Amino acid sequence: MKRILVTGGAGFIGANFVRYITAHTEVHVVVVDLLTYAGNPESLKGLPEERVELRIGDITDAKLVDELVSSVDAVVHFAAESHNDNSLHDPAPFVNTNVIGTFTLLEAVRRHDVRFHHISTDEVYGDLELDDPGRFTETTPYNPSSPYSSTKAASDLLVRAWVRSFGVRATLSNCSNNYGPYQHVEKFIPRQITSILNGERPKLYGAGTNVRDWIHVDDHSSAVWTILQHGAMGRTYLIGADGEQNNRDVLGSILESMGHERDAFDMVTDRPGHDLRYAIDASSLRNELGWRPQRQDFSEGLAQTIKWYRENRWWWGLLKTQTEERYSAQETTNARALAARGTEQ
Ligand code: NAD
Ligand code: TYD
Repeated sequence: MKRILVTGGAGFIGANFVRYITAHTEVHVVVVDLLTYAGNPESLKGLPEERVELRIGDITDAKLVDELVSSVDAVVHFAAESHNDNSLHDPAPFVNTNVIGTFTLLEAVRRHDVRFHHISTDEVYGDLELDDPGRFTETTPYNPSSPYSSTKAASDLLVRAWVRSFGVRATLSNCSNNYGPYQHVEKFIPRQITSILNGERPKLYGAGTNVRDWIHVDDHSSAVWTILQHGAMGRTYLIGADGEQNNRDVLGSILESMGHERDAFDMVTDRPGHDLRYAIDASSLRNELGWRPQRQDFSEGLAQTIKWYRENRWWWGLLKTQTEERYSAQETTNARALAARGTEQ
Protein backbone atom coordinates (compact mmCIF):
# COMPACT_ATOMS: atom_id res chain seq x y z
CA MET A 1 0.00 0.00 0.00
CA LYS A 2 1.63 3.21 -1.18
CA ARG A 3 -1.18 5.73 -1.28
CA ILE A 4 -4.38 5.80 0.79
CA LEU A 5 -7.44 8.03 0.88
CA VAL A 6 -8.58 8.97 4.39
CA THR A 7 -12.10 10.38 4.51
CA GLY A 8 -12.80 12.72 7.44
CA GLY A 9 -9.06 13.09 8.06
CA ALA A 10 -9.51 16.59 9.52
CA GLY A 11 -11.79 15.24 12.26
CA PHE A 12 -10.75 13.85 15.64
CA ILE A 13 -9.99 10.18 14.93
CA GLY A 14 -9.14 10.73 11.25
CA ALA A 15 -6.47 13.35 12.07
CA ASN A 16 -4.97 11.15 14.78
CA PHE A 17 -4.93 8.25 12.30
CA VAL A 18 -3.14 10.39 9.68
CA ARG A 19 -0.59 11.37 12.34
CA TYR A 20 -0.17 7.69 13.27
CA ILE A 21 0.31 6.63 9.62
CA THR A 22 2.80 9.41 8.98
CA ALA A 23 4.82 8.46 12.06
CA HIS A 24 4.78 4.67 11.60
CA THR A 25 4.70 4.03 7.84
CA GLU A 26 5.93 5.38 4.48
CA VAL A 27 2.40 5.64 3.07
CA HIS A 28 1.27 8.79 1.21
CA VAL A 29 -2.06 10.08 2.52
CA VAL A 30 -4.77 11.98 0.65
CA VAL A 31 -7.35 13.40 3.04
CA VAL A 32 -10.82 14.29 1.78
CA ASP A 33 -12.83 16.34 4.25
CA LEU A 34 -15.73 18.77 3.92
CA LEU A 35 -14.48 20.77 6.92
CA THR A 36 -17.89 20.85 8.58
CA TYR A 37 -18.13 22.39 12.07
CA ALA A 38 -16.25 19.24 13.25
CA GLY A 39 -13.37 19.34 10.76
CA ASN A 40 -10.28 21.45 11.31
CA PRO A 41 -7.28 21.61 8.96
CA GLU A 42 -5.22 22.80 11.95
CA SER A 43 -5.47 19.25 13.30
CA LEU A 44 -3.10 18.22 10.48
CA LYS A 45 -0.71 21.09 11.16
CA GLY A 46 3.00 20.22 11.16
CA LEU A 47 2.68 17.08 9.02
CA PRO A 48 5.01 16.88 6.00
CA GLU A 49 3.29 18.36 2.91
CA GLU A 50 4.95 15.82 0.61
CA ARG A 51 3.28 13.00 2.60
CA VAL A 52 -0.15 14.44 3.43
CA GLU A 53 -2.47 16.18 0.97
CA LEU A 54 -5.81 17.77 1.96
CA ARG A 55 -8.67 17.93 -0.54
CA ILE A 56 -11.67 19.86 0.71
CA GLY A 57 -14.82 18.15 -0.54
CA ASP A 58 -17.96 16.19 0.17
CA ILE A 59 -18.03 12.37 0.19
CA THR A 60 -21.51 12.54 -1.37
CA ASP A 61 -19.95 14.23 -4.44
CA ALA A 62 -19.72 11.20 -6.77
CA LYS A 63 -17.45 12.88 -9.34
CA LEU A 64 -14.89 14.02 -6.79
CA VAL A 65 -15.01 10.69 -4.94
CA ASP A 66 -14.48 8.77 -8.19
CA GLU A 67 -11.45 10.88 -9.08
CA LEU A 68 -9.90 10.48 -5.62
CA VAL A 69 -10.61 6.76 -5.28
CA SER A 70 -9.14 6.05 -8.73
CA SER A 71 -5.75 7.38 -7.56
CA VAL A 72 -5.25 5.28 -4.39
CA ASP A 73 -4.60 1.70 -3.23
CA ALA A 74 -7.00 1.84 -0.28
CA VAL A 75 -9.67 3.97 1.37
CA VAL A 76 -10.08 4.34 5.13
CA HIS A 77 -13.50 5.83 5.74
CA PHE A 78 -13.84 7.94 8.92
CA ALA A 79 -16.00 10.82 7.58
CA ALA A 80 -19.31 11.02 9.38
CA GLU A 81 -21.65 13.17 11.37
CA SER A 82 -20.59 11.78 14.73
CA HIS A 83 -22.43 13.39 17.65
CA ASN A 84 -25.52 11.83 19.21
CA ASP A 85 -26.80 15.07 20.74
CA ASN A 86 -26.76 16.80 17.33
CA SER A 87 -28.49 13.85 15.69
CA LEU A 88 -31.41 14.25 18.09
CA HIS A 89 -31.91 17.84 16.95
CA ASP A 90 -31.15 17.63 13.22
CA PRO A 91 -30.88 14.10 11.79
CA ALA A 92 -30.77 15.13 8.09
CA PRO A 93 -26.98 15.56 7.72
CA PHE A 94 -26.51 12.18 9.46
CA VAL A 95 -28.57 10.40 6.81
CA ASN A 96 -26.82 12.31 4.04
CA THR A 97 -23.18 11.88 5.09
CA ASN A 98 -23.32 8.57 6.93
CA VAL A 99 -25.59 6.70 4.51
CA ILE A 100 -25.36 8.45 1.12
CA GLY A 101 -21.68 9.29 1.66
CA THR A 102 -20.81 5.64 2.40
CA PHE A 103 -22.89 4.51 -0.60
CA THR A 104 -21.00 6.97 -2.85
CA LEU A 105 -17.64 5.64 -1.67
CA LEU A 106 -18.72 2.02 -2.07
CA GLU A 107 -19.75 2.60 -5.69
CA ALA A 108 -16.35 4.17 -6.39
CA VAL A 109 -14.29 1.39 -4.75
CA ARG A 110 -16.42 -1.15 -6.60
CA ARG A 111 -15.73 0.56 -9.96
CA HIS A 112 -11.99 0.82 -9.33
CA ASP A 113 -11.53 -2.39 -7.27
CA VAL A 114 -9.92 -0.50 -4.40
CA ARG A 115 -9.52 -1.93 -0.87
CA PHE A 116 -11.94 -0.31 1.59
CA HIS A 117 -11.96 -0.10 5.37
CA HIS A 118 -15.12 1.18 7.04
CA ILE A 119 -14.90 2.81 10.46
CA SER A 120 -17.92 2.32 12.68
CA THR A 121 -19.06 2.37 16.26
CA ASP A 122 -20.17 -0.09 18.95
CA GLU A 123 -23.34 2.01 19.22
CA VAL A 124 -24.86 0.05 16.30
CA TYR A 125 -25.51 -2.73 18.84
CA GLY A 126 -27.70 -0.54 21.06
CA ASP A 127 -26.97 -0.72 24.78
CA LEU A 128 -26.44 -3.28 27.54
CA GLU A 129 -27.98 -3.31 31.02
CA LEU A 130 -25.69 -1.97 33.74
CA ASP A 131 -25.64 -5.36 35.52
CA ASP A 132 -25.32 -7.47 32.34
CA PRO A 133 -22.09 -9.51 32.54
CA GLY A 134 -21.99 -9.67 28.70
CA ARG A 135 -20.19 -7.48 26.19
CA PHE A 136 -20.77 -6.78 22.49
CA THR A 137 -19.28 -9.30 20.06
CA GLU A 138 -19.23 -9.43 16.23
CA THR A 139 -22.43 -11.51 16.35
CA THR A 140 -24.47 -9.23 18.63
CA PRO A 141 -27.67 -8.23 16.75
CA TYR A 142 -27.88 -4.64 15.52
CA ASN A 143 -30.25 -2.54 17.65
CA PRO A 144 -29.29 1.15 17.32
CA SER A 145 -31.03 3.78 19.46
CA SER A 146 -30.33 7.22 17.99
CA PRO A 147 -30.34 8.81 14.54
CA TYR A 148 -26.51 8.78 14.77
CA SER A 149 -26.19 5.08 15.58
CA SER A 150 -28.95 4.04 13.17
CA THR A 151 -27.28 5.81 10.25
CA LYS A 152 -23.95 4.19 11.20
CA ALA A 153 -25.74 0.81 11.32
CA ALA A 154 -27.21 1.49 7.87
CA SER A 155 -23.74 2.29 6.52
CA ASP A 156 -22.31 -0.94 7.99
CA LEU A 157 -25.05 -2.95 6.28
CA LEU A 158 -24.34 -1.26 2.96
CA VAL A 159 -20.67 -2.27 3.24
CA ARG A 160 -21.58 -5.88 4.05
CA ALA A 161 -23.97 -6.01 1.09
CA TRP A 162 -21.38 -4.58 -1.30
CA VAL A 163 -18.93 -7.27 -0.16
CA ARG A 164 -21.44 -10.07 -0.64
CA SER A 165 -23.13 -8.82 -3.82
CA PHE A 166 -20.27 -7.21 -5.70
CA GLY A 167 -17.13 -8.73 -4.18
CA VAL A 168 -15.89 -5.38 -2.87
CA ARG A 169 -12.68 -5.93 -0.87
CA ALA A 170 -13.75 -4.42 2.43
CA THR A 171 -13.31 -4.81 6.17
CA LEU A 172 -15.27 -3.12 8.97
CA SER A 173 -14.44 -2.13 12.53
CA ASN A 174 -16.74 -1.06 15.34
CA CYS A 175 -14.89 0.77 18.10
CA SER A 176 -15.83 1.96 21.56
CA ASN A 177 -15.59 5.58 22.84
CA ASN A 178 -12.30 7.28 21.92
CA TYR A 179 -10.48 10.02 23.81
CA GLY A 180 -7.27 11.97 23.20
CA PRO A 181 -6.05 15.21 21.57
CA TYR A 182 -7.93 17.06 18.78
CA GLN A 183 -11.36 15.80 19.93
CA HIS A 184 -14.17 18.28 19.35
CA VAL A 185 -15.24 20.05 22.56
CA GLU A 186 -18.85 18.88 22.10
CA LYS A 187 -17.81 15.38 23.27
CA PHE A 188 -17.86 14.38 26.96
CA ILE A 189 -14.19 14.36 28.00
CA PRO A 190 -12.99 17.51 26.15
CA ARG A 191 -16.20 19.36 27.01
CA GLN A 192 -15.57 18.85 30.72
CA ILE A 193 -11.83 19.61 30.54
CA THR A 194 -12.38 22.86 28.62
CA SER A 195 -15.26 23.94 30.89
CA ILE A 196 -12.99 23.53 33.91
CA LEU A 197 -10.19 25.43 32.13
CA ASN A 198 -12.74 28.23 31.52
CA GLY A 199 -13.73 28.27 35.21
CA GLU A 200 -17.18 26.74 34.49
CA ARG A 201 -18.78 23.75 36.23
CA PRO A 202 -18.95 20.53 34.15
CA LYS A 203 -22.36 19.10 33.22
CA LEU A 204 -23.27 15.50 33.85
CA TYR A 205 -26.31 14.07 32.08
CA GLY A 206 -28.84 12.36 34.37
CA ALA A 207 -27.38 10.39 37.29
CA GLY A 208 -24.05 9.77 35.53
CA THR A 209 -24.34 5.99 35.93
CA ASN A 210 -24.11 5.38 32.15
CA VAL A 211 -21.05 3.32 31.26
CA ARG A 212 -18.74 3.88 28.30
CA ASP A 213 -15.77 1.68 27.29
CA TRP A 214 -12.91 4.18 26.80
CA ILE A 215 -10.01 3.64 24.40
CA HIS A 216 -7.13 5.99 23.63
CA VAL A 217 -7.35 7.19 20.03
CA ASP A 218 -3.79 5.92 19.31
CA ASP A 219 -4.95 2.37 20.12
CA HIS A 220 -7.84 2.81 17.68
CA SER A 221 -5.34 3.93 15.00
CA SER A 222 -3.03 0.95 15.55
CA ALA A 223 -6.01 -1.42 15.40
CA VAL A 224 -7.23 0.07 12.10
CA TRP A 225 -3.75 -0.14 10.59
CA THR A 226 -3.52 -3.81 11.69
CA ILE A 227 -6.89 -4.62 10.09
CA LEU A 228 -5.99 -2.75 6.92
CA GLN A 229 -2.88 -4.87 6.52
CA HIS A 230 -4.00 -8.27 7.83
CA GLY A 231 -7.83 -8.29 8.12
CA ALA A 232 -9.86 -10.97 6.33
CA MET A 233 -12.08 -9.60 3.55
CA GLY A 234 -15.71 -9.11 4.54
CA ARG A 235 -14.93 -9.38 8.24
CA THR A 236 -16.05 -7.12 11.06
CA TYR A 237 -13.62 -6.55 13.95
CA LEU A 238 -14.58 -5.04 17.29
CA ILE A 239 -12.03 -2.62 18.73
CA GLY A 240 -11.89 -2.00 22.47
CA ALA A 241 -9.35 -1.87 25.30
CA ASP A 242 -11.32 -3.06 28.37
CA GLY A 243 -11.86 0.51 29.55
CA GLU A 244 -15.36 0.45 31.08
CA GLN A 245 -16.15 3.30 33.49
CA ASN A 246 -19.27 5.21 34.37
CA ASN A 247 -19.53 8.90 33.49
CA ARG A 248 -19.51 10.03 37.12
CA ASP A 249 -16.18 8.27 37.75
CA VAL A 250 -14.60 9.67 34.57
CA LEU A 251 -15.74 13.18 35.48
CA GLY A 252 -14.49 12.71 39.07
CA SER A 253 -11.04 11.73 37.72
CA ILE A 254 -10.94 14.76 35.39
CA LEU A 255 -11.88 17.12 38.24
CA GLU A 256 -9.41 15.54 40.65
CA SER A 257 -6.49 15.64 38.25
CA MET A 258 -7.27 19.32 37.55
CA GLY A 259 -7.16 20.14 41.28
CA HIS A 260 -10.90 20.23 42.07
CA GLU A 261 -13.26 18.23 44.31
CA ARG A 262 -14.56 15.11 42.54
CA ASP A 263 -18.16 16.29 42.95
CA ALA A 264 -17.70 19.86 41.65
CA PHE A 265 -20.15 19.35 38.77
CA ASP A 266 -23.82 20.04 37.97
CA MET A 267 -26.33 17.36 37.08
CA VAL A 268 -28.38 18.43 34.06
CA THR A 269 -31.35 17.08 32.11
CA ASP A 270 -30.60 13.64 30.71
CA ARG A 271 -30.12 12.95 26.99
CA PRO A 272 -33.38 11.55 25.52
CA GLY A 273 -33.02 7.80 24.84
CA HIS A 274 -29.59 7.82 26.56
CA ASP A 275 -27.86 4.44 26.03
CA LEU A 276 -27.00 2.84 29.39
CA ARG A 277 -23.84 0.88 28.77
CA TYR A 278 -21.45 -0.04 25.96
CA ALA A 279 -18.78 -2.74 26.37
CA ILE A 280 -16.60 -4.39 23.74
CA ASP A 281 -15.19 -7.89 23.55
CA ALA A 282 -12.17 -7.46 21.23
CA SER A 283 -11.00 -11.10 21.44
CA SER A 284 -11.12 -11.71 17.66
CA LEU A 285 -8.83 -8.80 16.94
CA ARG A 286 -6.45 -9.89 19.70
CA ASN A 287 -6.50 -13.62 18.92
CA GLU A 288 -6.68 -13.59 15.13
CA LEU A 289 -4.60 -10.52 14.26
CA GLY A 290 -2.42 -10.31 17.39
CA TRP A 291 -3.35 -6.66 18.08
CA ARG A 292 -2.72 -5.32 21.60
CA PRO A 293 -3.65 -1.89 22.98
CA GLN A 294 -0.62 0.08 24.20
CA ARG A 295 -2.39 2.97 25.97
CA GLN A 296 -4.58 1.23 28.55
CA ASP A 297 -3.48 3.37 31.51
CA PHE A 298 -6.51 5.69 31.63
CA SER A 299 -5.07 8.06 34.29
CA GLU A 300 -1.96 8.59 32.19
CA GLY A 301 -3.94 9.05 28.95
CA LEU A 302 -6.30 11.45 30.69
CA ALA A 303 -3.42 13.49 32.18
CA GLN A 304 -1.85 13.81 28.69
CA THR A 305 -5.20 14.79 27.19
CA ILE A 306 -5.78 17.45 29.87
CA LYS A 307 -2.23 18.76 29.24
CA TRP A 308 -2.96 18.96 25.50
CA TYR A 309 -6.15 21.03 26.01
CA ARG A 310 -4.37 23.23 28.57
CA GLU A 311 -1.59 23.98 26.05
CA ASN A 312 -3.72 24.30 22.91
CA ARG A 313 -6.44 26.84 23.71
CA TRP A 314 -5.80 28.34 20.25
CA TRP A 315 -7.25 25.13 18.78
CA TRP A 316 -10.47 25.00 20.88
CA GLY A 317 -11.19 28.52 22.24
CA LEU A 318 -13.60 29.67 19.51
CA LEU A 319 -15.15 26.22 19.12
CA LYS A 320 -15.96 26.20 22.82
CA THR A 321 -18.04 29.38 22.65
CA GLN A 322 -19.96 28.15 19.58
CA THR A 323 -20.49 24.70 21.10
CA GLU A 324 -21.82 25.94 24.45
CA GLU A 325 -24.26 28.25 22.63
CA ARG A 326 -25.50 25.25 20.67
CA TYR A 327 -25.81 23.17 23.86
CA SER A 328 -27.86 25.90 25.61
CA ALA A 329 -30.40 25.83 22.79
CA GLN A 330 -30.46 21.99 22.80
CA GLU A 331 -30.93 21.79 26.60
CA THR A 332 -34.11 23.85 26.36
CA THR A 333 -35.49 21.58 23.63
CA ASN A 334 -34.53 18.41 25.57
CA ALA A 335 -36.25 19.61 28.73
CA ARG A 336 -39.42 20.36 26.74
CA ALA A 337 -39.32 16.94 25.01
CA LEU A 338 -38.87 15.06 28.30
CA ALA A 339 -41.68 17.07 29.95
CA ALA A 340 -43.98 16.29 27.00
CA ARG A 341 -43.17 12.57 27.29
CA GLY A 342 -43.96 12.70 31.03
CA THR A 343 -47.40 14.20 30.36
CA GLU A 344 -48.17 11.57 27.72
CA GLN A 345 -47.47 8.64 30.11
P1 NAD B 1 -15.54 13.96 13.98
O1 NAD B 1 -16.92 14.51 14.00
O2 NAD B 1 -14.52 14.52 14.89
O3 NAD B 1 -14.95 14.06 12.49
C1 NAD B 1 -15.72 13.80 11.35
C2 NAD B 1 -15.00 14.40 10.16
O4 NAD B 1 -15.76 14.09 8.98
C3 NAD B 1 -14.88 15.93 10.21
O5 NAD B 1 -13.57 16.33 9.86
C4 NAD B 1 -15.89 16.42 9.18
O6 NAD B 1 -15.52 17.65 8.57
C5 NAD B 1 -15.86 15.27 8.18
N1 NAD B 1 -17.09 15.19 7.39
C6 NAD B 1 -18.37 15.24 7.85
N2 NAD B 1 -19.22 15.17 6.80
C7 NAD B 1 -18.47 15.05 5.67
C8 NAD B 1 -18.78 14.91 4.29
N3 NAD B 1 -20.07 14.88 3.86
N4 NAD B 1 -17.76 14.80 3.43
C9 NAD B 1 -16.46 14.83 3.83
N5 NAD B 1 -16.12 14.96 5.13
C10 NAD B 1 -17.11 15.07 6.04
O7 NAD B 1 -15.73 12.39 14.21
P2 NAD B 1 -14.77 11.35 14.93
O8 NAD B 1 -15.10 11.30 16.37
O9 NAD B 1 -13.38 11.58 14.49
O10 NAD B 1 -15.31 9.98 14.29
C11 NAD B 1 -14.73 9.48 13.10
C12 NAD B 1 -15.38 8.15 12.75
O11 NAD B 1 -15.20 7.23 13.82
C13 NAD B 1 -16.89 8.23 12.53
O12 NAD B 1 -17.22 7.40 11.45
C14 NAD B 1 -17.48 7.73 13.82
O13 NAD B 1 -18.75 7.14 13.61
C15 NAD B 1 -16.45 6.69 14.24
N6 NAD B 1 -16.33 6.42 15.67
C16 NAD B 1 -16.15 7.44 16.56
C17 NAD B 1 -15.98 7.15 17.91
C18 NAD B 1 -15.71 8.24 18.93
O14 NAD B 1 -15.58 7.94 20.12
N7 NAD B 1 -15.58 9.50 18.54
C19 NAD B 1 -16.02 5.82 18.35
C20 NAD B 1 -16.22 4.80 17.39
C21 NAD B 1 -16.36 5.11 16.06
P1 TYD C 1 -20.35 11.47 24.14
O1 TYD C 1 -18.94 11.95 24.26
O2 TYD C 1 -21.34 12.37 23.50
O3 TYD C 1 -20.27 10.06 23.40
P2 TYD C 1 -21.44 8.93 23.14
O4 TYD C 1 -22.75 9.57 23.20
O5 TYD C 1 -21.09 8.52 21.75
O6 TYD C 1 -21.21 7.85 24.14
O7 TYD C 1 -20.89 11.13 25.58
C1 TYD C 1 -20.27 10.17 26.42
C2 TYD C 1 -21.14 9.99 27.65
O8 TYD C 1 -21.12 11.21 28.42
C3 TYD C 1 -22.60 9.73 27.33
O9 TYD C 1 -23.11 8.80 28.28
C4 TYD C 1 -23.27 11.10 27.52
C5 TYD C 1 -22.44 11.73 28.62
N1 TYD C 1 -22.31 13.20 28.59
C6 TYD C 1 -22.51 13.94 29.76
O10 TYD C 1 -22.83 13.39 30.85
N2 TYD C 1 -22.32 15.29 29.73
C7 TYD C 1 -21.97 15.94 28.59
O11 TYD C 1 -21.81 17.19 28.62
C8 TYD C 1 -21.77 15.18 27.38
C9 TYD C 1 -21.37 15.86 26.10
C10 TYD C 1 -21.94 13.80 27.44
